[in-house]
Amino acid sequence: MPAAANPVHVTVTGAAGQIGYALLFRIASGQLLGPDTPVHLHLLEVPQALKAAEGTAMELDDCAFPLLAGVDIHDDATAAFAGANVALLVGARPRTAGMERGDLLSANGGIFGPQGAAINAGAADDVRVLVVGNPANTNAYIAQQHAPDVPADRFTAMTRLDHNRALAQVAARTGSSVDDIARLAIWGNHSATQYPDLSHATIAGRPALEVIDDEGWVHETFIPTVAKRGAAIIEARGASSAASAANAAIDHVHTWVHGTPAGDWTSAGVVSDGSYGVPAGLVASFPVTATGGAFTIVPGLELDAFSRARIDASVAELVEEREAVRALGLV
Ligand code: NAD
Ligand code: LMR
Repeated sequence: MPAAANPVHVTVTGAAGQIGYALLFRIASGQLLGPDTPVHLHLLEVPQALKAAEGTAMELDDCAFPLLAGVDIHDDATAAFAGANVALLVGARPRTAGMERGDLLSANGGIFGPQGAAINAGAADDVRVLVVGNPANTNAYIAQQHAPDVPADRFTAMTRLDHNRALAQVAARTGSSVDDIARLAIWGNHSATQYPDLSHATIAGRPALEVIDDEGWVHETFIPTVAKRGAAIIEARGASSAASAANAAIDHVHTWVHGTPAGDWTSAGVVSDGSYGVPAGLVASFPVTATGGAFTIVPGLELDAFSRARIDASVAELVEEREAVRALGLV
């Protein structure tokens, strides 16, 4: 059956890159927005990658996805974001071995101001933006700062990959299913300073820290494994994570649109409202619920001294990145 009228317009930047290749087919098959929602894809690439994007579009055609209403390819951000309901900002250089994600700020930061301005100029009123390109939190901050007419809470950064990594580590350690684990949280920056927090988490309803019963494992293995997983993937694959990143982007938007399960939350980089002492305006990861198409920071969690110190350290890094982009004239 052909896709119905009024598809959702989804713009993907960096469409010819490795995450783009792992992402587009899943969007077109209905995994981003659900099995009843047709999508029209808009692929944004730099001019030298347009031919590769055309090849990907040919393959999308060849899948004959019933939900795919159309594919357009652009090298102009204003055209690519015109009418966008969902914008996935993936296009940016990945780091290579030995770099921290923040080292990409000067290489990639300049991409996100013009793209934020293009979203401001022409995206649909309900646009929802996920920034994947690194350093994701600060790139989302840059884009949001260039889109004064778009509600700030429509700009988000991806820490769902960190959240999923943390779920997988806890499941493996405890022999439980990821489905049994709830209320795990990633706080702060999508960087090595992030704080994967098990202090409120449960496994099949029991406190996770009680089930694990090994503070040394939590501090010395779990937290660094999750926080440095991106570097470990680069070391092993010789390229940064792609399929798992695309999967997390799908999860992030699907949750944003369809909501979190009762009694659970997820993690997302959202514009801080000052909660938990995180300066308002920074894009920081928090535990969030989603209802009615909006994320809400989980309120009122008690933070012990260890958690407080870890969150403060990661937020301090975000403040430094904000100062750096100000100094570079990017905001
Ligand atoms: P890649 O090099 O394979 O692809 C990037 C693509 O972006 C390229 O095709 C390039 O031509 C394109 N591009 C560059 N500038 C652009 C612009 N101004 N407009 C449109 N397209 C542009 O990289 P990748 O592996 O797909 O990774 C993309 C980004 O995602 C990297 O910055 C990487 O570090 C980041 N990443 C983030 C997470 C996360 O959890 N937040 C996870 C994995 C990767
Ligand atoms: C990841 O977490 O895998 C990505 O952000 C890529 C990287 O540079 O670590």
